[in-house]
Amino acid sequence: MRQRADALLQQMTPEEKVGQLSQLFLFTKPDAAMESRIAKGQLGALLFVTDPSLINHLQHVAVEQSRLHIPLLFGFDVIHGLRTIFPVPIAMAASWDLDTIERAQTAAAKEARAVGIHWAFAPMVDIARDPRWGRIVEGAGADPYLGSAVAAAQVRGFQGAYIGAPDHIVATAKHFVGYGAAEGGRDYDSVDLSDAQLRNVYLPPFKSAVDAGVGSIMSAYMDLNGVPATGNRWLLHDVLRGEWNFGGFVVSDANAVNDLETHGFAADKADAAMRAFTAGVNMEMALTKDAYDNLPAAYKAGKITSEQLDAAVRPILETKIRLGLFENPYVDEARAAQILGATEQKNESLRAAERSAVLLRNEHALLPLQGANNRNIAVIGPLADSKRDITGPWVFVNKEQESVSVLEGLKQVAPQGTQFNYSQGVQISRKFPSFFDAIFGGDKTPVWTEAEQKQEFDKAVQTARSADVVVMVLGERQNMDGEAASSSSLELPGRQQELLEAVAATGKPVVLVLMSARPLELRWASKNIPAILDAWYPGTEGGVAIANLLYGKAVPAGKLPYDWPRDVGQVPIFYSHDITHQPEHQGTRYWNEESTPLFPFGYGLSYTNFQFSNLHVNHEQIHRGEGLDVAVDVRNSGTVTADEVAQLYLHQQSGTSSRPIRELKGFHRVTVAPGETKTVHFNVDKADLTYWSAATRSWVQDDTRFDLWVGDDSNASLHGSFTVAP
Ligand code: BGC
Repeated sequence: MRQRADALLQQMTPEEKVGQLSQLFLFTKPDAAMESRIAKGQLGALLFVTDPSLINHLQHVAVEQSRLHIPLLFGFDVIHGLRTIFPVPIAMAASWDLDTIERAQTAAAKEARAVGIHWAFAPMVDIARDPRWGRIVEGAGADPYLGSAVAAAQVRGFQGAYIGAPDHIVATAKHFVGYGAAEGGRDYDSVDLSDAQLRNVYLPPFKSAVDAGVGSIMSAYMDLNGVPATGNRWLLHDVLRGEWNFGGFVVSDANAVNDLETHGFAADKADAAMRAFTAGVNMEMALTKDAYDNLPAAYKAGKITSEQLDAAVRPILETKIRLGLFENPYVDEARAAQILGATEQKNESLRAAERSAVLLRNEHALLPLQGANNRNIAVIGPLADSKRDITGPWVFVNKEQESVSVLEGLKQVAPQGTQFNYSQGVQISRKFPSFFDAIFGGDKTPVWTEAEQKQEFDKAVQTARSADVVVMVLGERQNMDGEAASSSSLELPGRQQELLEAVAATGKPVVLVLMSARPLELRWASKNIPAILDAWYPGTEGGVAIANLLYGKAVPAGKLPYDWPRDVGQVPIFYSHDITHQPEHQGTRYWNEESTPLFPFGYGLSYTNFQFSNLHVNHEQIHRGEGLDVAVDVRNSGTVTADEVAQLYLHQQSGTSSRPIRELKGFHRVTVAPGETKTVHFNVDKADLTYWSAATRSWVQDDTRFDLWVGDDSNASLHGSFTVAP
């Protein structure tokens, strides 16, 4: 690879080299200027082209007309599927099932590669501890251990065993780094993180992606500790290349190089290009005007050396070589048509959706629904019959008619003779429109008049009155989560809470299905609504998955990847805090509200009961650098086969720095039959006992005593301990 890349580099002009460092958006058709730029070999990559015939056309221009016949790289936001939409990433993380996650991204890669996309701008591995931040939907939640495991699984899914594996694409770990910690949860706003937070919490999922062989990294938009991430040499050079040995390429986020000027960091576009380039950004992603246009002049003026330029271009050429694009630049359009939306991917999507849902409450075993007692079902809510919202954000080229709404899914799955009455009840919408809607066209449904609002609200309550059971599907429209979709509130948008209370007041049993990607205000519901299922945005087959879960054809086993606050005022709230003054008052830090979460990290119910027992730690004492084995028995004492996620938490009692009260350090999702007991093993190793100490400003493993707990959420109470000696 290296020799082939270097042989090309020797023949390339500075303009051609910089061309390989440039990527532009293309939403519709290319204009003459773009085609001529490609023909001159001065554009390396495009994004947002998904039509295989257009991809072939542009690739012909690059390969046949450019002097050195270097193919284009086509990138796209394949976040959770292309045509077949999978549950949103936060949902897949809630499955705590790495195999499912890998399989889902394998299926997504297959569809993308079939149309000629070579490169996904995913996984987003940003830790998010503030649910006001809309992009929480794209990541794995709040925990670095879970986040690291999910990051690696996604990379394996997208890329397969190696870069260039058939039916696979290059992955991008993004957004390097700290993007999820924006002040106030406001998308793009500045981030201030201590070194210890960066090293122990925000960097690990990126490190995990790099160790899994991720081909590219995307630099983030915001300022990190006063230096924009896209111009941050410490991050992009010292950490990423120096410490981690990353050998792929860095792409900027869209327009982030131009932004270096906006930030008041670079003096002008030429300076912005120099600052990003010398910090370690290989490729600039730009809307139309790229700052990197200035690099050939900078090279000619001696501001960058040919070694620097070649070092930036080399990994991009190597990626194209690895992908086999020089030999096979084109795609088979007929094959693409066969693969898109095929049953194989739909089945994977259904399975992933069933495995992602989290059962938050189930009083008196209201779920699973018993067909015989529930002949008349009222289905209520603004998301109950939506084929668009059910697929969530970051969905551009699916076919809406292919997705199954909750109402449709229920009709498919319910026992024969079940009657459904649907009523939307309320409309919900953003106060400020989404820029995605501006680009791709949003919902054009007319807004109800006040008279219509009243009529629909009353109709919904009336529908509930005549039912045996009510299924309410509430939450957030898909454009209320994702990029530029931060929210100052966690309340159910619009009049949904009022509707929920009015429906509950009919006295009918209510099953609340939540569709959203952030923890919404459920204090009232968690006391008054007997069954609550968090379905996230479950994807193309979401309606079927939800119906299967409600009827017990699938058993919920998802677990929360974040703590669920009682109130937005608790944000950020996370189980893994340090123990501070008066820990006995930890739960009553506020005078007006408990300071514990409504539902803890790792929480999720089942239709069966599990017991954890026989905790066994195989060594009372180990030496620094050694590992140990923790075993626990998981028994299913209920009547249905189900999955449980056994979770291991550690706490270091003393050391160079104070350490969190507990931290996740192992998990296994296991299937257990009724009456069966399974022994689950966890391996605790040196990495689990090592952390970055703010005191020594280095990685340390202290000689000290550790507590450990195993159980079904972060409140696990089965306790053991061990000592680490020198
Ligand atoms: C987002 C990235 C995305 C890129 C290309 C940006 O606005 O922050 O996550 O990959 O656009 O669509």
